[in-house]
Amino acid sequence: MANQLTPPLKWAGGKRWLVPYLRPLWQPYRKRRFVEPFCGGLGMCLGLRPKAALLNDINRHLINFYHWLQKGLVVSLKLENKEDSYYKNRHRFNDLIGTAKGAASREAAELFYYLNRTGYNGLCRFNQKGQFNVPFGRYRRINYAADFLEYKEVFKGYEFHQGDFAALAVKKADFIYADPPYDVEFTQYARGGFDWEDQIRLAEWLSGHEGPVAAS
Ligand SMILES: C[S@@+](CC[C@H](N)C(=O)[O-])C[C@H]1O[C@@H](n2cnc3c(N)ncnc32)[C@H](O)[C@@H]1O
Repeated sequence: MANQLTPPLKWAGGKRWLVPYLRPLWQPYRKRRFVEPFCGGLGMCLGLRPKAALLNDINRHLINFYHWLQKGLVVSLKLENKEDSYYKNRHRFNDLIGTAKGAASREAAELFYYLNRTGYNGLCRFNQKGQFNVPFGRYRRINYAADFLEYKEVFKGYEFHQGDFAALAVKKADFIYADPPYDVEFTQYARGGFDWEDQIRLAEWLSGHEGPVAAS
């Protein structure tokens, strides 16, 4: 049952399709800790299913959602594929994320899931003020999940961290898999983006790691 766990969110640049290619590189190191500085939708981690992992992303709402999955999340929010509900929930989410306490709340995690599934193309985009501004998605049908308890067990050996990749405390023996944003204009996963200087900073950070590194 737990073997069939799929990424719970839609995420741009998801790497589920790349799992068969990384698996042979990971196999010799599978007893090590798996570190993903850009974990996004967890496509790779849920595909490889390491026992221990350090999973990081700069997107605090994404990491808040995973923290609540770790605690055991059953969504109580009404999950409706309706335009008026969508904009009401988007407004509520933006109110909540205005404070640190609200942004870390269970309600924010539930709303983040709802907005991700119901919004346009599963995009995660914020305006200059840090407000989520993705329009309604107009999907004909959405298969919402409400019970995320399966993830609680799998996430037991995982540590989630929010921040810039370079702030991660990695250990010598860690296996690092880095999947940064593409080097294109549009990389609005979070405020700030990821520019060419960041790509260079990442290359230097990865080359300084003594353990195995893979990047895509
Ligand atoms: C290509 S996506 C990763 C997709 C992931 N491999 C998957 O399978 O879903 C890149 C991720 O990097 C994150 N990101 C952008 N800038 C970052 C930074 N400076 N440090 C850490 N994460 C960052 C984005 O929020 C995004 O989730």
